[in-house]
Amino acid sequence: MKGIILAGGRATRLFPLTKITSKQLLPVYDKPMIFYPIETLVKAGITEILIIIAPDYSGHFLNLLGSGEQFGAKFSYAVQHEPRGLPEAFIIGQDFIGNNNVTMILGDNIFDQDFSQDIKAFKSGGMVFAKKVTDPERFGVVEFDQSMKALSFEEKPLKPKSNYAAVGLYTYDNQVCQIASQLKPSARGELEMVDIHNTYLKKNQLQVKVLDGFWADAGTFDSLLAVSNFMAQKTKSS
Ligand code: DAU
Repeated sequence: MKGIILAGGRATRLFPLTKITSKQLLPVYDKPMIFYPIETLVKAGITEILIIIAPDYSGHFLNLLGSGEQFGAKFSYAVQHEPRGLPEAFIIGQDFIGNNNVTMILGDNIFDQDFSQDIKAFKSGGMVFAKKVTDPERFGVVEFDQSMKALSFEEKPLKPKSNYAAVGLYTYDNQVCQIASQLKPSARGELEMVDIHNTYLKKNQLQVKVLDGFWADAGTFDSLLAVSNFMAQKTKSS
């Protein structure tokens, strides 16, 4: 299993904080944000990791993270020149992925969850996680039937069909590179993860698991503050 951390983008929602650095280098309590997704992958047993960054501040990532040795991992780096959408990671990362399975985590997604059993048990197809939220319209949303079988995914729907957000940790087999290369941009001009999930779902090859642990997308001022407070409490009580 290879790992990808997607840490590019412009993060205009966090201006002016992100005028002078990258979102994924901002502090979350006592660490730069990107330490959390790195630790989530390493804890899950994934140590060969490609970090995809935007051209601006790319040197800062290299200075901070280096070879990965301090995390017990081996890092490679790639630059995404324009934020054309999350699935582009599987096009940029095609050679890195090779014939392996891959888990991608978003650089601003923070978990307090051990994924090692799920990753170990993964054989083929796709596996995504859904978390109950109060603001589903901010996310990719999973529609379930009464028996919690996933029916569809929609990106930032105006009228969400459930309260379950698809969180930013995705495990796929090698088909994902080809699926990503055939996607067309959505109405908002980006390649969308939900189109990958829907492709696997139609083939009946997608597992959708409900996540019980803590999860936050730290991409807004409020969520950045909330996740910093959560990590401060956790650190002080441990
Ligand atoms: O947080 C989970 C959500 O992440 C999912 O529920 C959505 O389905 C998914 O589309 C995504 O939504 P966001 O609105 O949070 O995506 P955002 O544009 O903030 O990008 C997520 C991370 O990926 C962020 O750290 C920036 C980075 N990124 C984004 C784009 C579009 C890139 O590195 N390259 C890109 O092209």
